Amino acid sequence: MGANKVQLSVWAENITPSPTLAVTARAKALKAEGKDICGFGAGEPDFDTPEFIKEACLKALRDGQTKYIPAPGLPQLRETLADKYRTENGIEGLKAENIVTSPGGKYSCHLAINAICGPGDEVLMAAPYWVSYPEMAKLVGAEPKIISAKDSSGFKVTPEQLDAAITDRTRLFILNSPSNPTGAVYNREELEALMEVILRRNIYLMSDEIYEYLLYDGVEHHSPASFSKDAADHTITVGGFSKTYSMTGWRLGTLVARAEIAKAVSSIQSHTTSNATTFAQFGALAAMENKELAMREVEKMLVAFDRRRLYMLDRLGSIPGIACQRAQGAFYLFPNISSFNMESNDFCARLLEEEMVAAVPGIALGDDDCVRLSYATSDDIIEKGLDRLDKFCRQLA
Ligand SMILES: Cc1ncc(COP(=O)(O)O)c(C=O)c1O
Repeated sequence: MGANKVQLSVWAENITPSPTLAVTARAKALKAEGKDICGFGAGEPDFDTPEFIKEACLKALRDGQTKYIPAPGLPQLRETLADKYRTENGIEGLKAENIVTSPGGKYSCHLAINAICGPGDEVLMAAPYWVSYPEMAKLVGAEPKIISAKDSSGFKVTPEQLDAAITDRTRLFILNSPSNPTGAVYNREELEALMEVILRRNIYLMSDEIYEYLLYDGVEHHSPASFSKDAADHTITVGGFSKTYSMTGWRLGTLVARAEIAKAVSSIQSHTTSNATTFAQFGALAAMENKELAMREVEKMLVAFDRRRLYMLDRLGSIPGIACQRAQGAFYLFPNISSFNMESNDFCARLLEEEMVAAVPGIALGDDDCVRLSYATSDDIIEKGLDRLDKFCRQLA
């Protein structure tokens, strides 16, 4: 190679690689060396995609559904999604024109941010945040601005905090409920209070609802776009098939917005990925058209997740020095480890090297006091991993 320094774009220079993937990669490397790793890093359900969804995709392939389709997605799938968001989520008046399917919830977020924000704009988000939000803002030349939501406030942003953070450069507020990494779920009252600020200050909301079905303790999910016509006009609702139906590898996300925004999103997609994979959308269509069957599969997964969540909360509660909020959504716990006076990076690095337990350092997610533990892994690994974490923490204390 030449000695010339490579000249990258301002976007590429500013981007940082995903630290959660780095943890997974290190854990995988140790596993490949034959080490007995207990991985709590997973961001995907440890279940297979339901068989009937796979069958529908296979049939589509055999039927020759292997060509381009319209950029905003398979028409029948957009119809069923409009129906779902109208009837289940209560967003009135939706039609297929309000829906875009994309190659993954992650890409739906990127499209939403792209359609609303540009250079010089500010994008507000709570910390702890999902790892990709700040980078996505930077990728359109916008500035991520962080609102701190610590465990002392249930990891939730208050309307006062949101109001105070908005400037005349603010375009978008990103909300993720149920949350990755905290598992926090906003109730209706809290969401309505945030929406009041959003409408009064005339900004947009990107509501990332990808974990909308993964709820425990009887809590309910609410879509802010359902609160009023004005709320729907100011909200881009993002979701997808990855987490609910265990379809992470299929790369299928959804986006719901007023027609003008959906059209802009679709235009951006038409020049980037064209459309989400055609035959994959037939699998998703089967899930939407056989909702009862699909929800039975989701229920099975939820039973396992809830059992593991309760077990982990119980075990973490008995480890000296650890304080863990009762997460009620998604499949993550975000315990506070600040009593050990260690940076979360050091804590996780030592935990991995000394006890072979992989966790995600909170610093990567905007909160150095905590670490993220996913319970999308087997009961056996959870039990063994918690024995090791217990031992590790007792040695540190
Ligand atoms: C909060 C949140 N939003 C969006 C996504 C994107 O999911 P996918 O691109 O797999 O559909 C994830 C995945 O980890 C997530 O945690």
